[in-house]
Amino acid sequence: MKGQVALVTGAAMGIGLACAEAFAKEGATVIMADIKKPDEQAQKFVEVGYKAVAYECDVADSQAVKAMIDWIVATYGRLDHALNNAGIQTPQRPMAEITEEEFDRTVAVDLKGVWNCMQYEIEQMLKQGGGQIVNTSSQGGVTGFPGQAAYISCKHGVIGLTRTASMDYAAKNIRINAICPGVIATPMLEDLVARNPKLGEDLVRDIPAGRLGKPSEIADAVLWLCGPKATFVHGHALLVDGGFTIH
Ligand SMILES: NC(=O)c1ccc[n+]([C@@H]2O[C@H](COP(=O)([O-])OP(=O)(O)OC[C@H]3O[C@@H](n4cnc5c(N)ncnc54)[C@H](O)[C@@H]3O)[C@@H](O)[C@H]2O)c1
Repeated sequence: MKGQVALVTGAAMGIGLACAEAFAKEGATVIMADIKKPDEQAQKFVEVGYKAVAYECDVADSQAVKAMIDWIVATYGRLDHALNNAGIQTPQRPMAEITEEEFDRTVAVDLKGVWNCMQYEIEQMLKQGGGQIVNTSSQGGVTGFPGQAAYISCKHGVIGLTRTASMDYAAKNIRINAICPGVIATPMLEDLVARNPKLGEDLVRDIPAGRLGKPSEIADAVLWLCGPKATFVHGHALLVDGGFTIH
C-alpha cells in the first residue's frame, strides 16, 4: 500500500486503532479520524516510522466529514481506502425504554455517520477512478441482541447501505464491503461488560472458538477486503466472529 492513502474513522482505540496500524504497516499513509483528535496514537505510529496523522471529526456532522475529505484530497491528492468504523453503543435496555434522544444519537453516529462518510469518499473515488470502502457493521448486523434495539437497527442498516451502494458503484471500480466483527476485546466491549459482568461470561460461552476476538483479527480481514486479493469481492458482509452466528 506504499503511496496509497487510507482513512480510518474511530481510530483512537479498539478496532479502528488496530486497523489504522495495519494500514500503516502495509505502507499506506493513514488519516486517523476520531471525535477527539487522536494525537498521541498517531504520534506513536510516526515514532516507529509509519505515516500517520490525527484528524478530529464527528462523523455525525456531514459538513465536518466533507471538510475532512476535502482536506485529505488537498493534502495527499487522493483517497484509496476508507474504513468507516466510528460507532457508539446505546445503554442496554428493552426497546421501549430507549429514549428518542438515545435512538437519534445512535442513528446519527452508527448509520448516518457511515452515510456521511461514504457520500464524500465516493465522490472522490469516482474522480480518481476507484477505491475501496469497508463499513464496520457487526455480528449484530445479521442477528438480534436483547437490549440493543437502536444499535442493532443501525448495524443491520450498515449492511443494507453497503450492499446498495456497492451495486451503484461496482462498475466504477469502487469496491464497497462490510466487516461484521463478533465479540472483540476493545474498550467498547469492556465498557459494556463493566456495566453487566454476567454478560461477559455469557458472551464467551456462546462463541464456538471459546474466546473473545482480537482487534488485530478484524484488521487482518479489513486489509484483505481492501487489498489486491479481494478484487472481485463486492457488497459482502464478512463475519469475523469466532463462529458466534453459526447457532
Ligand atoms: N468491540 C466489539 O465487540 C464490536 C463488535 C461488533 C462491532 N463493533 C463495531 O466496531 C466499531 C469499533 O468498535 P470498538 O469496539 O473498537 O469501539 P471503541 O469504543 O473501542 O472505539 C470506537 C471509537 O469511535 C470513536 N467515535 C465515537 N463516536 C464518534 C463520532 N461521532 N465521530 C468520530 N469518532 C467517534 C470513539 O471515540 C472511539 O475512538 C464500532 O462501529 C462498533 O460498533 C465492535
